Amino acid sequence: MIILDGKQTSAKIKEEIEAQVSVMKQQNKRTPHLAAVLVGTNGASMTYVGAKVKACQLVGFESTLIELSAETTEAQLLNKIEELNNNPEIDGFIVQLPLPKHIDEQKVLMAVDPDKDVDGFHPMNVGRLTLDLPTFISATPYGIMELLERYEIPTSGKHVVVIGRSHIVGRPMSILMSQKRAAGNATVTIAHSRTTNLAALTKEADIIVAALGIPEFLKADMVKKGAVVIDVGITRVPDASKKRGYRIAGDVDFESVAEKASHITPVPGGVGPMTIAMLLKNTLLACERRNP
Ligand code: GUN
Repeated sequence: MIILDGKQTSAKIKEEIEAQVSVMKQQNKRTPHLAAVLVGTNGASMTYVGAKVKACQLVGFESTLIELSAETTEAQLLNKIEELNNNPEIDGFIVQLPLPKHIDEQKVLMAVDPDKDVDGFHPMNVGRLTLDLPTFISATPYGIMELLERYEIPTSGKHVVVIGRSHIVGRPMSILMSQKRAAGNATVTIAHSRTTNLAALTKEADIIVAALGIPEFLKADMVKKGAVVIDVGITRVPDASKKRGYRIAGDVDFESVAEKASHITPVPGGVGPMTIAMLLKNTLLACERRNP
């Protein structure tokens, strides 16, 4: 069994980006600049945004963190987005999700300039993805594609079962793997909460992407021997034995599934670190597009 090491792979990607930024600086080109908007004080979101800003510093990007209170109105947030859209210093920006309940998430995502939408959440970019046009691929599915590619996992003609149909992971993942591209050309089944007899599907799968957000959902008896297992889950499960009061659990029962899988991503250290590397890659791309 081979561990798909997202920590090591993302470190490699960050080194590659850092080298590209050095060259850009030598050529007196603009340094890529990412902004992140955080509304409220959701613990996980604060951790993720902090990690994104830190990663920018590591590769030599400029970064701006905009922290807004949980009471921020939708109109105020839309104003901030308009400001970022019009700020020539900013190459790309993200609005960290989830947003407080009184703010319409879709309205906010649609307000982001598609050319600065390094999360790839704008309908224009999602549409471009479905049409195989150049776009910003959202970070989590992009990171999984990169892992499959860099570990040279055969995907052409393989049966992929994606569990979960979220806009951020499951849906784009199913599109990417069906495309004519590296780590693509697969036959894809997208399963979700209404799927009947899910285990019958997963037992047939050559590659399983578990992205449903239920800790340790995928058990060994649902997996074919030699399958490739990608775990997208990151749920905080209360655990009194831990100092911080919780542990991070994936959607895969790692201990038992690892014995059957040919390749598997750990949690933490698998898909998670890849998402940050891919956000940086999208920011670099946004900067290059703006300064050809
Ligand atoms: N919340 C969970 N994942 C993401 C992500 O990739 N981008 C943003 N903006 N928010 C998220």
